[in-house]
Order: sequence, then C-alpha cells, then structure tokens
Amino acid sequence: MITGGGPLEGAVRISGAKNSALPILAATLLTEESVNVGNMPHLNDITTMIELMACMGVEVVVGEKMRVEVRAGEVTAHTAPYELVKTMRASILVLGPVLARYGTARVSFPGGCAIGSRPVDLHLKALEAMGAEIEVEEGYINATCDKRLKGAHVYFDMVTVGGTENILMAATLAEGTTVIENAAREPEIVDLANCLKAMGANIEGAGTDTIVVEGVEALHGCDYNVMPDRIEAGTYLVAAAATGGKVVVKDVDPSSLDAVLHKLREAGAELVVSETTIELDMKGRRPKAVDIITAPYPAFPTDMQAQFSAMNAVADGVGHVTETIFENRLVQAHEMNRMGASISVEGNRAVIKGVPRLKAAPVMASDLRASAALVIAGLVADGDTLVERIYHIDRGYECIEEKMAGLGANIRRIPG
Ligand code: EPZ
Repeated sequence: MITGGGPLEGAVRISGAKNSALPILAATLLTEESVNVGNMPHLNDITTMIELMACMGVEVVVGEKMRVEVRAGEVTAHTAPYELVKTMRASILVLGPVLARYGTARVSFPGGCAIGSRPVDLHLKALEAMGAEIEVEEGYINATCDKRLKGAHVYFDMVTVGGTENILMAATLAEGTTVIENAAREPEIVDLANCLKAMGANIEGAGTDTIVVEGVEALHGCDYNVMPDRIEAGTYLVAAAATGGKVVVKDVDPSSLDAVLHKLREAGAELVVSETTIELDMKGRRPKAVDIITAPYPAFPTDMQAQFSAMNAVADGVGHVTETIFENRLVQAHEMNRMGASISVEGNRAVIKGVPRLKAAPVMASDLRASAALVIAGLVADGDTLVERIYHIDRGYECIEEKMAGLGANIRRIPG
C-alpha cells in the first residue's frame, strides 16, 4: 500500500545486480573449486537459483550479508526441474555451464511470461553450432555433447543477453576458439566475463558486439563481488524525478546508466555524478515529459521503460514511449489509466499525456518492472494505492519498502 505524498528526499544504498548475480551463480558450475560471490542481493530470484543448484547436488553455503560460497563437485543431477524453472526463466542460464562441464544437461523449457513469449531458440542454435545434440521432449531441453563442446563462430540474429551469457560460459571450456558476433553489450555481460576471467577463462571483447573466447581445460575458483544494480539505481532516480525530489543513490556505477541519466536531465533533473554516487535534484519542479525508445545496451534499457512511463504520466507535456525488445511490456499503462493517467497504447508505442496528479486505485502488477512503476505511480497519486501481486517486486528489489521509506515515502506491505 502506498499513500501518495510529497517529493522523495534522502539517500539510498544500491544492492548487487540481480541480472549479474544470476549468470555469475550459474558460472560457478564451471569449476569443481569453490567460488565465493559477494555483494549478492537478497532477492527471491537469487534464492530460486541457489535452490536450483542445490537440487543438482551442488554445495552452496550462504554466509552473512548474503556472501555465497559454491563448490560444484560431481553433481547428482544435471536437471533444472520444471517447478523451479517455471518460477524463474533465468534458470536457462545453467544450460551452457552444465553442458560444458558435464557433457549433459536437462533444463525445463522456460515458458513465456507477462512481457512476452521469450523463446530460447537462439541459445539452442548456438549450442548446436558448438557441437551439442539438442532435443526437446515432454517440455524439457535435453542437451548432450560427446567429450567437449567445440569452439564455433556464433552469430546472433538478434541481440540476446541470456543467449550471449549462455554461450560465453559454455565457450570457456570448449575446445578451441569461439567468436560471438552481435553479442549483447550490457554491463552485466562484462561483469560475468570479469568473473570468468578471475576463474581462469580466456575472454576478449566483453562489452563489445564481438566476443572471442579461447577454451581452456578447466577453470579454478575465485572470489568475486557482483556489480551494483543499475536498474535498481535508475528506479530510485526516476521515482525522485517523478515526485520532484532530491535523492542521492550510493554504491552505484554511473557509467552503466548513461542513457538513463541523459533522459533524467531531459526531464529537468540536475545531476551531480561521482565515482560511486549519483545525486538527483529536481529543485521542486514537476518533471518534463520525455520520449523513450528501448533498445539493447548502450541504448535506453527496456528494464527502465515502465518506470519512466510512470514519470511521464505526471510530467509536463506528452511523452512517446516505444518498446522494441519485448512484445508485451506496456501493460502497466492500463493500470495507470485506472489511476487517472492519460495513456494511449498502439502496438509497441504508448503516447502519455501528463496530468498534474494521479488518483489512488487498487492496481495489479504483472511483472517486476511494471510493479516498480506502479509503486512510483502510487507515490504521485492522491490517496492509498494498493498494488497487488507484489511478489513480482520481491524478485528484483531488495527491501523496497525500507529503502523507499528511507526517502520519505509512505509505503507498507499489507499481509495476506
Ligand atoms: C535479460 O533477459 C534480463 N534478465 C531482462 O531483465 C532484460 O529485460 C533483458 O535481458 C533485455 O535486456 C536477466 O538478465 C535475468 P534477451 P533475457 O534474451 O536474457 C528475444 C528484469 O526485469 N529472444 O536479451 O531473457 C526475446 O524474446 C528482466 O530484470 C529470442 O527471440 O532477454 C526478447 O524479445 C526482464 N530468442 C529479446 O530477444 C532467444 O533465444 C531480448 O531477450 C533469446 C531472446
């Protein structure tokens, strides 16, 4: 429940990046030695990934402050079961590492989700190019390879973050050289590559659209800290912009947020950026509407689209939002219209005519970022907004009530 109020003010500390922690946890399967991963966010998706690894017989010890130690010796199962995969599609990220390390992997086919069908055809095609035999039966992907995967020249028809991560991990143990063309360039790919290099992998070009990997016989353990969550940071910044507030986000890497910071300046925010902090000050002004077109990094991230749509809903002017990555990621617009927003959706474009203030209403979250957007909408609505299906938000935002309350928001969890 969020009671609409005034501007957000104060400081918030950013947690480790979910979308970096998940592939890095999967990468620990590539070695029998222990890997210590720090700065892990305490999120449901992380817990699910740890559960998945434990059910394969991997030894996972969660220490204080979510420091996780993984030792993937001989596993008892090479399977990622349906009941876990259906709750977290990112389980598909164990396919590459398990296949590369053990020569066989069985992963439940990840279903679609609210934002789109989200196929994994590009992952499978690339693994076949590396010599994997893949068949799908009874909803499971069964992959095998005799002895070792072979390095290959992989070209992704479209940019895929998960596909790039799966192939990058598999290639580290493949025989020979793998070239990944049209690779995703997200900072989380660079973070994964840095962790793999600390484990002894031979990788060039992570963060560009061409990554070259020289396979090695084996990887060794390492200690690694996950990068800060750029999307969590962006979410608090745009919430401050929507409320005309003044907020400092700490423990963040500003260089991973260029496109987002550019749009916040366009909305009228004054930003002061240091090595690990970003201070945003709206000087009490209402945000100006901005146009957004989502695209692969370094362009504007799809994971920030819903949050900016919430800001546009109360901004001065008309904002045009175009979602080019997922086929159904504008659904939160209909919920915001129930709060008095003026958003019209045509295909993958939303035209948002800002209104001065929204009105509280019971609304329903459909995915992680849409639920964050509805929380932001609640902050700028008169009355008490009840956001249902809040479990979505717990997948990607650590302690969101505490962090928002620390910025002056009136937000609480309704049990039941
Ligand atoms: C990752 O998902 C993120 N998840 C998503 O964040 C993020 O929105 C997305 O990348 C895009 O940046 C994690 O990192 C765990 P893709 P992923 O493969 O890897 C199509 C969040 O809110 N595609 O880059 O699944 C796909 O349908 C989540 O934290 C194929 O067609 O995204 C989509 O339209 C949501 N075939 C587009 O590519 C494939 O084989 C981009 O998907 C693979 C993808």
